[in-house]
Amino acid sequence: MSDFRITTSTQEPDLDTSMKVIYQWNYEPEVEELRRLYVKAAEAQWVAERDVDWERPIDHEKFSSTPLGAALPLEQTSYFQSLTTEQKWQMTRCTAGFRLSNFLHGEQGALMVAAQLVNAVPHTDAKFYAATQTMDEARHVEVFARYINKLDEVRPIAPALRTILDATLQTEDWMKKLVGMQIVVEGLALYSFREMRNLTQEPLLKDLLTYVARDESRHHAYGVQYIERCVPCLNDTQREELEDFALEAARSLIDQRNQQTFLTSVMQMWTEIGIDSVALLTSLRAERDELTRSMPGGRRLGPVQGFVIPTLRRCGLLSERVAKRYHEFLRENLSGNLVGDNLEEFLKRIPDLPEDTAAWVLGELQ
Ligand SMILES: [Fe+2]
Ligand SMILES: [Fe+2]
Repeated sequence: MSDFRITTSTQEPDLDTSMKVIYQWNYEPEVEELRRLYVKAAEAQWVAERDVDWERPIDHEKFSSTPLGAALPLEQTSYFQSLTTEQKWQMTRCTAGFRLSNFLHGEQGALMVAAQLVNAVPHTDAKFYAATQTMDEARHVEVFARYINKLDEVRPIAPALRTILDATLQTEDWMKKLVGMQIVVEGLALYSFREMRNLTQEPLLKDLLTYVARDESRHHAYGVQYIERCVPCLNDTQREELEDFALEAARSLIDQRNQQTFLTSVMQMWTEIGIDSVALLTSLRAERDELTRSMPGGRRLGPVQGFVIPTLRRCGLLSERVAKRYHEFLRENLSGNLVGDNLEEFLKRIPDLPEDTAAWVLGELQ
């Protein structure tokens, strides 16, 4: 070997994974809808360097419309409004940098899981599709890294996201990989990309999120179409195991302790740039009711209730047993009026999946 060494700061101990690799000797199309999706994905390939105009500087004024990712609009609080234009820009810049960094790390996880799926899924059409997704995810890592470098700096991964990615990479069960990645992680991503893409007025960010969101809606379709075909073939124990895997992943996204860790990191970052985080949160608490009223359609359901659970229901992975547990932990972590007081109300409030996810993600459907 030469003296080639990995010297980047991201080097860390390896993650041990075990995975069953499956050869498939039938090369004929078998799962028609996945074969069609593979062709569609091949036709929709884009090149980040060629198709996105990277020469444009980030438009500071327009960037201020980028949502900060909090449950309530922080940027409408009286504290935020009292900041100078420069302070507003600094706060929006680093908060969005933090959020985009987690998109970036999630994309790296997706890249590695998609590559694992090529090996692990048993159908040729599904292997072909996963190969196109691997290419898509590489491009997503490329564009988010590039945009963050223009905006801010790459910030560390949130521990809850890391937990889900590790569990998805480590499981030897290909259906759990599909559920962890295509339904939970990509469900979260689609929901967040949609919100950021539709609200930000910053042209470069809007452009790249448009490209990425289109790819992601295909990845979600792959998960849904494949899993809903496979679930009826499982016995009860296998189905319950799969439901529980999804539940654990979704739970770590919502868990208040994880939210607290997240908030602590963000507040630390704000303090470093001279923002009084305590004053900001005090003004948020005092103005909570008014801010909620100003939000179109009231408080948003969030990615788990608004998208991940509807997807699981569509795939046949929301039995009454597991729905009860979703209701319990969502009630512990969110307000009762969003979740419903009992299981029946909770189930009634779960929205249907949009008929055309690609149109939904681009804001063409509510
Ligand atoms: Fe992606
Ligand atoms: Fe994806």
